[in-house]
Amino acid sequence: MAYSNKVIDHYNNPRNVGVLDKEDPTVGTGMVGAPACGDVMRLQIKVSEDGVIQDAKFKTYGCGSAIASSSLLTEWVKGKTLEEAAAIKNVEIVEELALPPVKIHCSVLAESSVKAAIEDYKKKQAAIQPKVTEMA
Ligand code: FES
Ligand code: FES
Repeated sequence: MAYSNKVIDHYNNPRNVGVLDKEDPTVGTGMVGAPACGDVMRLQIKVSEDGVIQDAKFKTYGCGSAIASSSLLTEWVKGKTLEEAAAIKNVEIVEELALPPVKIHCSVLAESSVKAAIEDYKKKQAAIQPKVTEMA
């Protein structure tokens, strides 16, 4: 099966590969696995006080499409609000990368990883909120 040029480009030059500090309360970490193939994707976001994603990093153990999907997503989420990032649909990734039907689950994995990262960030923020009030 031939990969599209965009997949090959992201695969050869993945954007934003790396790790953010998991303990940082402004960082959300999403870790998801694809039951279909066993691939694993970790996507992290760093969020500013006004709820804008300033940075994003990923690490993916998986196929070319999974790597390309997560690379593309880290580019897309930067500068977006959490709401905007949560609204990104896997079909947009499928279109952008011209993924074939058997690779659609790779884009689903990427969408899920962003949602999981946002969830994690919100959970962390909710957990530290009471302390902030106590201190005030
Ligand atoms: Fe796992 Fe894609 S099937 S690498
Ligand atoms: Fe399973 Fe791509 S994530 S084949």
